[in-house]
Amino acid sequence: MKTGGILLCGGYGTRLLPTTSYINKHLIPIYDKPMIYYSLSILLLAEIKDITIVCDRNDLNSFKSLLKDGEEFGVQINYAVQDSPLGIPHGISSALDTNNYEKFICALGDNFIFGQNFYSNLHSFFNENNQTTVFTQHVKDPERFGIAELSKDKKKILSLVEKPKKFISNNAVIGLYIFDDKFEEHFKNTKVSGRDEFEIIDIIKNYKLENVQHREIGRGTAWFDMGTTESFYNSSSFVRTIQERQGLLVCSPHEIAFRNNWIDEVLLVNYIKSIEGSEYSENLASIINQ
Ligand code: DAU
Repeated sequence: MKTGGILLCGGYGTRLLPTTSYINKHLIPIYDKPMIYYSLSILLLAEIKDITIVCDRNDLNSFKSLLKDGEEFGVQINYAVQDSPLGIPHGISSALDTNNYEKFICALGDNFIFGQNFYSNLHSFFNENNQTTVFTQHVKDPERFGIAELSKDKKKILSLVEKPKKFISNNAVIGLYIFDDKFEEHFKNTKVSGRDEFEIIDIIKNYKLENVQHREIGRGTAWFDMGTTESFYNSSSFVRTIQERQGLLVCSPHEIAFRNNWIDEVLLVNYIKSIEGSEYSENLASIINQ
């Protein structure tokens, strides 16, 4: 079975204008590294080695110059163009046109998850599970997210609403999904919403909620959607606090690749030399003898 990861980096980035009028949101730094390093880290920590990045045609060269073909991280990175930002499922479909995964994890490029417990079984969960899966976490501002109404035991999703105006629950659907090869079929049967976008929640509903697995992410794990000015600042500040306190990097794809033995010391040292003078290079250098 062909499996892989899709990383969505399209969209307008409206909430971060005017900055996003000249740079793709996912290339802006969150503290010491580009935003995309955090979502890429989600896929690397899930041990996904075949990755398709989706972006607008105008941004393709910027992403390619940052991440190249993935050799720096010991993975294969391909790129797919999303002609216009018609929503998350449309972005996924653009990736599947390039790389026809039969099972895949999709991470939104502006999402960031921090917490060892979460990652400790994500890889085996992905490998062993063939059901469409949605992850949720408790939030205090449900009107900003896709929201799930859950059964009492929290195992089943009873309903899903995108950015509800009326309170349904505090369980936000985070930007990480597992889908199978039925995705395209469900996408073809979906229409654009009132926002003129294809909604990911409509695709999940097309799978029929009783067939969709739900995993709650506990409070020991930090999840950020970095797409607003406020959350952009909060996530930067979170990374700074953890890195300064622990002296360890948060979501460095280079470190993850090195610790997974996907790249050797020579490759890492050469990379560090190529970005000499930056704090990121100093922090990376310090992991070699840890
Ligand atoms: O962060 C979690 C939330 O993400 C979920 O709770 C919502 O259900 C989901 O719709 C999404 O809501 P957002 O309002 O945050 O979506 P946004 O338009 O900001 O896009 C999320 C990511 O997907 C972002 O990294 C850009 C990318 N994207 C977005 C669109 C609309 C694309 O790659 N292509 C697109 O056409």
